[in-house]
Amino acid sequence: MPVSTPYQVLVVGNPVLNTRSDEVTDVDGKFVKLCEDMFTTMYAAPGIGLAAPQIGVQKRFFVYDLGAGDGQQVLINPEITGAEGEMEYYEGCLSIPGLHFDIVRPERIGVKGRDLDGNEVEFEADDLLARLVQHELDHLDGILMLERMDDDQRKQALKKIRELQMKAAGAPEPEPKRSIFRLR
Ligand code: NI
Repeated sequence: MPVSTPYQVLVVGNPVLNTRSDEVTDVDGKFVKLCEDMFTTMYAAPGIGLAAPQIGVQKRFFVYDLGAGDGQQVLINPEITGAEGEMEYYEGCLSIPGLHFDIVRPERIGVKGRDLDGNEVEFEADDLLARLVQHELDHLDGILMLERMDDDQRKQALKKIRELQMKAAGAPEPEPKRSIFRLR
């Protein structure tokens, strides 16, 4: 087992990941502790963002740390206020472990929400931050990146996910195909 963390990240197949989360109403000490535990879980994964539903908490917030000097960030009840452009980005998700796909989303977005002090925040994001916010906000709406893929990517991803699930369940590897002796 890897190092134990406060939470285990839920993986694809768990219905919580397909459920829309509720607004955060109370930002109290308990909530701050929850965020700290989410950071610990995220760093251990390792990941750069983690949305509350991924640890089974159906609330609209996520934590992130792009490692770019801004440090730990928490965004509460986020909304996208505008979007422009298009960008392909090689995206991954802690709830779909090991898989990455080139996914097209808007390049620049406007974002608003609240921070951990309860202050309203509003900013523009591009590049990695824009991608992260869109990905994590999808989690709050019960949307996994599978739904942002084209049909071929989704087929490929679902196949790999099935293989991973079988491995996790301890199922034997499928036998290699061999030619079958045929009766005439
Ligand atoms: Ni994700």
